Amino acid sequence: MNARRIAVFVSGTGRHLENFAELARSGKLDCEIGLVVADKAGIGALERAERFGLQVCVLDPERELDATAFGRAAFDAVEAADCGTVVLAGFMRFLDTPAHWAGRVLNIHPSLLPAFGGKGFYGGRVHAAVLERGCKLSGCTVHYVDDEYDHGPILVQKAVPVRDGDDKDALATRVFEAELAAYPEALRQHFARN
Ligand code: GAR
Repeated sequence: MNARRIAVFVSGTGRHLENFAELARSGKLDCEIGLVVADKAGIGALERAERFGLQVCVLDPERELDATAFGRAAFDAVEAADCGTVVLAGFMRFLDTPAHWAGRVLNIHPSLLPAFGGKGFYGGRVHAAVLERGCKLSGCTVHYVDDEYDHGPILVQKAVPVRDGDDKDALATRVFEAELAAYPEALRQHFARN
């Protein structure tokens, strides 16, 4: 399977998806987006996918399935699209990953894992918890997915300062800037190994 043909999983606005699509189009990241998998209809990421003419698979009715059946449906779609790497980019549900996909599924999380990860920690909630705790540093982590939430071997981390007077939106913006650099860097490492 071709590692450089990627499937991007989304649940939200799709800024990472757009970043990958731009980088692939300009040749700055040597990959092709073979499929976009969404777990909801009507999200911003699907509009972005359409703008780039990407093939999409919307697993909206499958939301009612248990994690195993959802995972099977998702990976069936990925394999049918002949993708060799899965990139979770703001995908907000646990993805049950078949054993033969170990080491080929990446996730990004908006904190310095293992801090502020796991169930209930996503998006703005992460930044609110970081501020509440009084952390002086935050950042993002790209890691391989295993069978635990926000767990698995780390590829790239980038730290950013938490500044006096930050609210969660200000911190989220600073962390997201770091995310835009971290995810392509992690994918380049992954491609170099596969
Ligand atoms: C990103 O900040 C990503 O780190 C976070 O969701 C955002 C997705 O943005 N992911 C998580 O919180 C996963 N636990 P996007 O949809 O605009 O790419």
